[in-house]
Amino acid sequence: MDVLLDVEGLTKQFGALTAVDDVSFRVRRGEVVGFLGPNGAGKSTTMRMITGYLPADAGRAELCGVDVQREPERARAKLGYLPEGAPAYGEMTPLGLLTFVAQVRGLSGREREQRLREVRERLRLDSVWRRPIEALSKGFKRRVGVAQAILHDPELLVLDEPTDGLDPNQKFEVRRFLKDIAADKAILVSTHILEEVDAICDRAIIVANGRIVADGTPSSLEARAVDHNVVAVTLPADAHERALAALEDAEGVAEVRAANDEGGEGEIVLLVRPAHGTDVLARVHEASRAADLPVREITRRRGRLDDIFRTLTSAA
Ligand SMILES: Nc1ncnc2c1ncn2[C@@H]1O[C@H](COP(=O)(O)OP(=O)(O)O)[C@@H](O)[C@H]1O
Ligand SMILES: [Mg+2]
Repeated sequence: MDVLLDVEGLTKQFGALTAVDDVSFRVRRGEVVGFLGPNGAGKSTTMRMITGYLPADAGRAELCGVDVQREPERARAKLGYLPEGAPAYGEMTPLGLLTFVAQVRGLSGREREQRLREVRERLRLDSVWRRPIEALSKGFKRRVGVAQAILHDPELLVLDEPTDGLDPNQKFEVRRFLKDIAADKAILVSTHILEEVDAICDRAIIVANGRIVADGTPSSLEARAVDHNVVAVTLPADAHERALAALEDAEGVAEVRAANDEGGEGEIVLLVRPAHGTDVLARVHEASRAADLPVREITRRRGRLDDIFRTLTSAA
């Protein structure tokens, strides 16, 4: 079975606020899906419903084919879940906590020892293995949280902001770890950090005000950015009018305008926007040559995920 997480119409109301509004998506084996949105968008609430810790007002979630509301125990056995924030385990050590979690998960004997060793090594917990969790740095606490989520080697992982509050090295380690284990699992990982999506995700679902506003590969989302495939042409300022006329006439060009605050002293940058997002780089080169424009630089812009993110999440 390929779809490991199937979410259909999930909805949650807190008083007058619809925190999650008819959210549907699927995650397949081998996919790392970024669940992206500004603070308050409804990411954690969605994840708490998916994992069965919060009842939904409407809709359903199936984990590896098991409905989490009807059969919470069976569904959760399939799942590894890292809740938001740092858990408070107080005086317990990683060894104590993870041994306890292993028992709850029904692991024993040699299998338990093997899984404990595996997560200790994978998440580099050796140096803190017997120290109280409350005394650990935020980075180590997070890793202990991830360790408890993957201890029973679940096929489906739901991780709520696993890199939140980590330093850049720790972020890098957690991301590399997720990529390492991704191949035979389905992973849903929430974040409000956009670079995370390019770093680890095959697909991003963007939410705003409880609704899904986009769902696609990072590059398909980037293609929706306003400046995707825009060609920027840098020229001496005195060539402005002539260049504008020449470039506007080029085939496939929808619009040319001057960029604000770009280019060096005495320079102007013209932004050439193609019709229908097509690639007009070659045409811009041709037109510049034909009109003998004193071009200093020509670059094509890819479209940035943070632009599309801002557009989508502020309009909603
Ligand atoms: N238990 C709750 N009671 C009332 N409002 C809540 C509760 N949990 C979350 N909310 C509200 O629901 C919205 C979505 O929150 P949340 O799911 O935590 O967003 P995110 O994880 O995307 O930051 C926010 O406006 C939040 O204040
Ligand atoms: Mg949250």
